Amino acid sequence: MRLQKTLSGVKDEKTPMWFMRQAGRYLPEYRALRASEPDFISYCLNSPKAAEATLQPVERYDVDAAIIFSDILMIPWAMGAGVHFVTGEGPKLTALDQPSDIDRLSSEDMLTKLAPVGEALQLTRGGLDASKSLIGFCGAPWTVATYMIEGGSSRDFKKSRSWLWQNPDAMDRLLDRIADESIRLLEMKAQSGADVLMVFDSWASAVPSYFQDRVVTRPMRRITDGLKSRGINAPVIGFPKGIGENILAYAEQAGINGIGLDHSVDMRWADANLPKSLAVQGNLDPLSVITGGKEMLASADAIMEACASRPHIFNLGHGFNPETPPDHVADLVAHIRGWE
Ligand code: CP3
Repeated sequence: MRLQKTLSGVKDEKTPMWFMRQAGRYLPEYRALRASEPDFISYCLNSPKAAEATLQPVERYDVDAAIIFSDILMIPWAMGAGVHFVTGEGPKLTALDQPSDIDRLSSEDMLTKLAPVGEALQLTRGGLDASKSLIGFCGAPWTVATYMIEGGSSRDFKKSRSWLWQNPDAMDRLLDRIADESIRLLEMKAQSGADVLMVFDSWASAVPSYFQDRVVTRPMRRITDGLKSRGINAPVIGFPKGIGENILAYAEQAGINGIGLDHSVDMRWADANLPKSLAVQGNLDPLSVITGGKEMLASADAIMEACASRPHIFNLGHGFNPETPPDHVADLVAHIRGWE
């Protein structure tokens, strides 16, 4: 498996590739399938449909990995945080207003409630070529906590950041709760056929530098240590989006095999400063694919050149937008496959 080799720290002669949000609304076949199950949570819990959505981009583009179709908000949903999706507005949750609200969250039956995700992984593995990796994922504790505290998406994360200053011990308690549920879910995903695990800290950029070790790196290490202590040895990719120079400490201390880099990171800097045995993943700006053409390909070349002598997984710096033309993705895939 191409991703596995790269994540073991060995440069492959052909760079493996997959894309964040490769299954999603930019694909007409996804929109058709999604229309058959309007409620997003029910859709994620419909194992055959989730498996089909997972396989769609692999069938269309022959990328090297499938990422199970699910969502980082399935854990708060299973904890009873009132997760639902409102069309055009995104996710909504029952906001946590004070530390005592954490005690209302449930840790019971999580694996029973999310059993269909395991079945979707088994179905997907059955339909996936043995050379392709199957990625299981969860959100990092901080990113998931922001949705739980804010009650949905946020522009400035004002409430979550205020919690850090006002209730840092309660924040630790919430992050540990989420990390422990994440360990159980990732273990279940690995046992159901996921051979690579990824943890999305999409809003790590909002954490003040003073708290980054405590809120970003330490909870991630709790997850990687927890997995190892349960005998789960699947490689883990961390994605601490937008943490700037703290990426060096994260790379060293989070216990990861690969690091996802967002499109603000200069890959030449990453190559020069990150351990040579650590796989880097990324980092084309997803908006370049909306425009497509020469500039998109030139920026992909710059990434490939910078990573020419290190383990690298080609990917985006964040997920595809719904406006992305599928043909531009095909151009990009052909270009990377032909890269010498
Ligand atoms: O192909 C893949 O990458 C797998 C599927 C996947 C989804 N969500 C499906 C999805 C993955 C890996 C995620 C992770 C996720 N979910 C993250 C972390 C990665 C990132 O993008 O930063 C986050 C922050 C979420 C939370 C979330 N889920 C939001 C904010 C939204 C609403 C966005 C919107 O545009 O409506 C979702 C819904 C969601 N998850 C969609 C998809 C394809 C769109 C909903 C739909 O199909 O109607």
